Amino acid sequence: MNNRKRNPGEGEQDVVVGLDLGTSRTTVVIAERDGHSLNVIGQGTSPSTGLKNGVVVNIEGTVESIINAVEAAERMANTTVNSAYTTISGDHIRSVNSKGMIAVGRSGNGIGSKISREDIHRVIDTARTVTFPADREVLHVVPQDFLVDNRMGFKDPVGIVGLRLEANVHIITAAQAAAQTILFCLQEANIQPEDLVFQALAASQSVLTEDERELGIALIDIGAGTMDIAVYHEGAIRHTAVIGLGGESVTRDLAHGLRIPRNDAENLKLEFGCALASCLENDSPIVLNGNEERPDRSVAPDIVCSVIQPRMEEIYDLAIKELRQADCFAKITAGIVLTGGASMIPGSVELAEEVFTLPARLGKPRGLGCLTEVANAPDHATAIGLVKYGLMQQDSEIRGMRVLRRRRRGYRSKNNRIENIKRWFTDIF
Ligand SMILES: Nc1ncnc2c1ncn2[C@@H]1O[C@H](COP(=O)(O)OP(=O)(O)OP(=O)(O)O)[C@@H](O)[C@H]1O
Ligand SMILES: [Mg+2]
Repeated sequence: MNNRKRNPGEGEQDVVVGLDLGTSRTTVVIAERDGHSLNVIGQGTSPSTGLKNGVVVNIEGTVESIINAVEAAERMANTTVNSAYTTISGDHIRSVNSKGMIAVGRSGNGIGSKISREDIHRVIDTARTVTFPADREVLHVVPQDFLVDNRMGFKDPVGIVGLRLEANVHIITAAQAAAQTILFCLQEANIQPEDLVFQALAASQSVLTEDERELGIALIDIGAGTMDIAVYHEGAIRHTAVIGLGGESVTRDLAHGLRIPRNDAENLKLEFGCALASCLENDSPIVLNGNEERPDRSVAPDIVCSVIQPRMEEIYDLAIKELRQADCFAKITAGIVLTGGASMIPGSVELAEEVFTLPARLGKPRGLGCLTEVANAPDHATAIGLVKYGLMQQDSEIRGMRVLRRRRRGYRSKNNRIENIKRWFTDIF
C-alpha cells in the first residue's frame, strides 16, 4: 500500500514525533530535544477521511492521511520520521480507579525498609491486576498517590521507611480492535508506534497548569467527532471519558437548519459561527451563495447563532452529566479548560461559563518553543501534548521510572507486532 522509502535512525535520535489521528484531520508535530525541553521544527496536517467519531472505519483513507501529514511535517523539518506517539479516542474508551498493595521488605529492627523504585513498580503492577474483558486493552496505568503504612498523600515515596505500600492508580482502557486497527494503519504507513496515548491525556500535557491540576480542573477537548474529557484534582488524574459528539454535529445542524450543503455549512461556521448570541459582534446579513437550482440568500448572524448555541449547550450538558455521574463535578473548583478545534467558535468559552457556572478558559499549547503556526492554536493542543508526553516518557525511562508507560512488549518486537496486528485485524474484518 505504501512505497515510501525510509532511512531508519538517521537524524531521529533527538526528535520526538506526535501524530494526532483526528476525525477531521491528521496532525503531525516534529519536535527536537533541547536538553529537557522541545522545539517544534516541523508540522503537517492532512484531511482525514477514514475516521468516524474518533474511530478508524476506513484503513486506506486513514493510511493515506497519515502518510500525507507525515510527509508534510518531514519536508518542513528536513528529517525522516520513523516512529511516533499516536493518539487514540472514541466512545469505546473506559476508565477506572484501582488500588494496589505490597509488603515492603522488613529490615532487622522490624520497623520496615526504605521504599525503592522497584517497590513502586511492584505496587503499580498489583494495582493494574484488575480483570478486564479479553477484548479490552490497557492503555495507561497512571499513579495518583501512594500510602505508606496508612499515611496518605505521598506523590513519590521513594526513600520513605515503611512496612506496607499502597498505590491508587487511574487505568484507561480501549477496545482492543480499535487500538489494533490504529497500529495496523501505522504499520501500513511505515511508522513505528512509540505509544498509543489517550487524546485527553495528551492534550492535558500541553494546556493545563500545575495549579489547575492541584485545585481541580476538567479538560474538555472538543474535536470534530469526539469530546474527550480528563479531570485532575490534587495533582492527579481522577477521571477520563469520551463522548462521541463534536464540531461536526454543529456543521450538520447548520446544513439541515439552513438547507445548505455540508461544505457550505462548515465554511459558514468557520467564518461567521458564534456560540452565544450576546457575543455577536456584527449584525450585517451573511450571504449564502446559491447554485444553478437555488438563488443566493442572506441570513442574519443571530439565526446562525440560534442553530449553533443549542448544539453547543447540548455538548456541555453531556459533559456535565458525565462529570456528575463520575462524582467529579464538585472537584473542579478551578473550572473548565476548553481545547480542540470546536472550542475555537467565538462565544464557546462564555457559553461554557454560563452552562457549567464555573470559570472557563481556552486551552492553548504552552511550554514549547513553537512555530507560529502551532503556537496559540487549540486545535494543535493534542499533537503538541503528544510530544511533551513523549519527552516525559523518554526522560522517565532514562531515570528508570517507567511507571506511566503501558506495557509495549507487543510493539517492540517487530515480528510479534506484525503477527499480532495481522491476527487481530483478521478478527475484526
Ligand atoms: N476557527 C474555528 N471555529 C469554529 N470551529 C472550528 C474552527 N477551527 C476548527 N473548527 C472545528 O473543529 C473541528 C476540528 O477540530 P479538531 O482538529 O480538534 O478535531 P479532530 O481532532 O479532527 O477530531 P476528534 O478529536 O473529534 O477526533 C471541526 O469540526 C472544525 O469545524
Ligand atoms: Mg482531536
